Amino acid sequence: MPRSGYDDIAEEYYDLRHVTCRNFDNTTKSSLVSNSFPIPDGKLLEIGAGRGRAGEFLGVDHSRVVQLDNSQAMFDLAVREECSLKILADACAIPLASGQFKYVVGFLIDPFMGLDCLAEAHRMLVPEGRILLTVPTHQWGTVLRTMLGIEEMTTRFKVLDTENIVVLPSVLHTPERIDEMLKMVGFQKIEISCDALTDFEQPVSSDITSVCETLEIQVSDLPIIHTIRATR
Ligand SMILES: C[S@@+](CC[C@H](N)C(=O)[O-])C[C@H]1O[C@@H](n2cnc3c(N)ncnc32)[C@H](O)[C@@H]1O
Repeated sequence: MPRSGYDDIAEEYYDLRHVTCRNFDNTTKSSLVSNSFPIPDGKLLEIGAGRGRAGEFLGVDHSRVVQLDNSQAMFDLAVREECSLKILADACAIPLASGQFKYVVGFLIDPFMGLDCLAEAHRMLVPEGRILLTVPTHQWGTVLRTMLGIEEMTTRFKVLDTENIVVLPSVLHTPERIDEMLKMVGFQKIEISCDALTDFEQPVSSDITSVCETLEIQVSDLPIIHTIRATR
């Protein structure tokens, strides 16, 4: 497996000082509270798993979870969710036989979001299997990236306690494009929600407040996360 860009920031990715990521996490949690994703039984594949979030976000027992990520450093983190199997692989070319999972989930999968990973998610599922995916919104990210003068399909992590910047792929699509891609690879019953931070979230990342100032809207009116549900 080639080295992943996430290897460079894995150790600090979950630090509370990476406020934008934590704002994304909390938005995901509140979105799942208002619109739950029941997972009563069956195996679950978590793509772009990082340290694993299926237990924290969905309450699913680790014995049902297979985690997939292309970063060895993420898999080596000391604090991580247990799972039944870890697969070091590209989510766009999954080295597993088809039709094995009842659920495919992935949180903040913008590094590899596109037709290939959606087709692979579809291939992994049993008939009527379901996906739950989250990505940052195009509406937020394109404004921020224009303001920062960086490529639209990249994000930048400021390495903590240094002046260093790590640039990583981050592919943001409009909800209309996500819907088209899901249909193209064969998904149905598609739901894409647009979720903003709650009024009481603190702290709020300057990468979010700066976009709100530019657009002259409140933080609670700026969708920052899409939660995507669909059925095979
Ligand atoms: C933004 S992080 C999110 C991690 C985790 N899902 C979470 O919410 O805490 C993206 C994750 O996707 C992984 N990743 C990036 N490109 C990938 C690819 N092509 N295939 C599989 N995993 C990938 C990274 O290593 C990282 O763990």
